[in-house]
Amino acid sequence: MARTTTSWLALLLLFGAATALTRVRRQDDGGEADDQSIDELCDQRPPDEYFRLSTDGDCRDVVRCDQAGENGITRLASVRCPNGLAFDIERQTCDWRTNVKNCDRVEKPRKVLPILKTDEPVCPEGKLSCGNGECIEKELFCNDKPDCKDESDENACTVETDPNRAPDCDPTQCVLPDCFCSADGTRIPGSIEPNQVPQMITLTFNGAVNVDNIDLYEDIFNGQRNNPNGCQIRGTFFVSHKYTNYSAVQDLHRRGHEIGVFSLTHKDDPNYWTQGSYDDWLAEMAGARLIIERFANITDGSIIG
Ligand SMILES: *[C@@H]1O[C@H](CO)[C@@H](O)[C@H](O)[C@H]1NC(C)=O
Ligand SMILES: *[C@@H]1O[C@H](CO)[C@@H](O)[C@H](O)[C@H]1NC(C)=O
Repeated sequence: MARTTTSWLALLLLFGAATALTRVRRQDDGGEADDQSIDELCDQRPPDEYFRLSTDGDCRDVVRCDQAGENGITRLASVRCPNGLAFDIERQTCDWRTNVKNCDRVEKPRKVLPILKTDEPVCPEGKLSCGNGECIEKELFCNDKPDCKDESDENACTVETDPNRAPDCDPTQCVLPDCFCSADGTRIPGSIEPNQVPQMITLTFNGAVNVDNIDLYEDIFNGQRNNPNGCQIRGTFFVSHKYTNYSAVQDLHRRGHEIGVFSLTHKDDPNYWTQGSYDDWLAEMAGARLIIERFANITDGSIIG
């Protein structure tokens, strides 16, 4: 249920963003003074960060710096959360008004970054500099525990910036057939052209089949997409019980899609599954199969798991 709510919120936000973007324009025709302040507002700010222009109002309006405009001019793209929702600056999403505790803040607190790249080393061998100039052991960076006084050692930990990231794949060490370097996961051994490589794509979906997604499945399986042998593409649907429209499941099965079970309850709690007994699993899986067979009238024994 929680997941359903979040994805709805994300959808609402996306929708809001899309409609708002079509309305993007220069703040007004005030000329340089405004451009100046937009540049100031947007200085050093990532383009995907939403912030408020003021804390007045009902907490639904935010903007972000949009650098995609023509002539490299930065504009403010505005987004308004739907009625009844407010924008959570910390989590960067719309949520129910009562869940948002930061309407009094205009922006996400900026994190202090460590000073990792300098012309001359600023710290002794084996140490790196925190944002405040303090030197600490390199190993302490990005270990999920703040060690710098300004906590900056945990603020630059992406795949590109983490000073303790794994070394780049070395093609002289990593050789076929045991090892192959593909930094972005798309390289093909022997530099073969992608269009010369057989590929298999599986389309699988899990969760409830209902009004929220039937149209999407119609779009994907629109009869225009074929396999190289001319047969139409098909998908596998791991169906959960709650909110499922079994009439739609029956229809999917009739049209040749594979139906599987996802579980009866679709519970998120990992403990429920790790500590579940044989009977729990039986009820979840075999129970779900029984229900699908009965409600979607799938009588050919094709639901295997
Ligand atoms: C259930 O699915 C069928 C088949 O796609 C559709 O005709 C029907 O309107 C759906 N029912 C509801 C309540 O969404
Ligand atoms: C269920 O499917 C069987 C075989 O496909 C068919 O004979 C039967 O009439 C169907 N039942 C319903 C209620 O549609």
